[in-house]
Amino acid sequence: MKLWGGRFTKETNQLVHNFNASISFDQKFFKQDIDGSIAHVTMLSKQGIISDDEKAVIISALNDIKTELLEGTLQIDSSSEDIHSFVEAQLIARTGDAGKKLHTGRSRNDQVALDMKLYTRDEVVEVDHLLKHLLGTLLDMMEKNTETYMPGFTHLQKAQPLTLAHHVGAYFEMFKRDRSRLKDIYNRMNYCPLGSGALAGTTYPLDRDMTASLLHFYGPTLNSMDSVADRDYIIEFLSALSTIMMHLSRFSEEIIIWNSNEYQFIELDDAYSTGSSIMPQKKNPDIAELVRGKTGRVYGALMSILTTMKSLPLAYNKDMQEDKELTFDAIDTVKGCISLFDGMIATMKINPDRMAKSAMNGFTNATDAADYLVKHGVPFRDAHGIIGQLVLYCIDHNKALDDMSLDEFKAICPVFENDIYDAISLKTCVEQRNTIGAPGTKAMANVIAINKKYMEENDCLSVES
Ligand code: ARG
Repeated sequence: MKLWGGRFTKETNQLVHNFNASISFDQKFFKQDIDGSIAHVTMLSKQGIISDDEKAVIISALNDIKTELLEGTLQIDSSSEDIHSFVEAQLIARTGDAGKKLHTGRSRNDQVALDMKLYTRDEVVEVDHLLKHLLGTLLDMMEKNTETYMPGFTHLQKAQPLTLAHHVGAYFEMFKRDRSRLKDIYNRMNYCPLGSGALAGTTYPLDRDMTASLLHFYGPTLNSMDSVADRDYIIEFLSALSTIMMHLSRFSEEIIIWNSNEYQFIELDDAYSTGSSIMPQKKNPDIAELVRGKTGRVYGALMSILTTMKSLPLAYNKDMQEDKELTFDAIDTVKGCISLFDGMIATMKINPDRMAKSAMNGFTNATDAADYLVKHGVPFRDAHGIIGQLVLYCIDHNKALDDMSLDEFKAICPVFENDIYDAISLKTCVEQRNTIGAPGTKAMANVIAINKKYMEENDCLSVES
């Protein structure tokens, strides 16, 4: 059924119909479309615009349509232009004249603005749940690995020793910020556009506060043109999703490196790895690589919608129909990536011996050796130079700082005494770093306690609350 046949004398060209139609993708929000219609008719009857009986008939039929669509007993007919036309046609077929009143005081412009907002809001909530679960996995890893020593890197060169708990803790902070971005978006977007009509409101005495509250919004939007033309919240969400993917891709890259034969810091579980069709020895980190790769796709969606919205005059323009496919794809992609990544790191085997050994080779304790001299009265710049000479000596003699005899130390600088070995041991190097945010056990215990509290105090977003 067409919603706008009256003014036309010719049938739509089939190619035009296909080009124009959105039913193949906007059917994804049939549930939100029906929920919005139920709120709308509830309000229409309360305002005396339709009768209570008409309301009851419409709502019952809309609920039937929703159930049948959910159960798959009703098929969506792709000859409809969009999900709005499909649901309305179904309703009219079932209820006759009552159904014809559903669209009173409403336009597809405020309807689609509402549907997309309801759908996006549900997805913001879902992504937040997945992130909170991932944070739980990370916190668990942190608690178990406060003494799992490993090298920390800058420029991908070994720099200073730290712990796996500390390294994972960096990602904990990133995903925490991602959650707070979602909360901001939720709070900013949670106003109801329904009742804005095509662009200039309507002459019916609609109660927009009522529909807003029935649909769990904080209130109605305040400008009817903005209401039908605003897609900022989609752009913000895609931006937050892009940042989540950026974080996941950085972590994935590290997992790939750590899982390599050269590093062997971790071993991915068989259930989260794949093999090669030709090289029998291979166990590939495909999941981490795909997460890294799919990041591009999510950035693409953000760029695409930003560009679609650029320069659009007020109010509604059909260009905006392009907000859906890429957004849906980006959301589904990110949700899949978070849960698979979560499962992958929860099941991987950590190899603490390889990590500690790697931290011991590569002079990650050179800064601490310099600090030892400083604590014995040598100015830092001189200490830096002395340790540089020691490192050179070690490289020539193929040994670590810890392997040098006291005589060798003293030959380069007489200040060294026997306590140098303890001062530059892996454990001391890490344990001495106890300023807040540092990897020392005390500092980490403090941060873990703070983050446990964060987990208790920061419930997942929820639409009803
Ligand atoms: N399918 C359209 C969209 O996604 C629905 C709104 C149609 N409105 C209109 N005035 N043609 O934007």
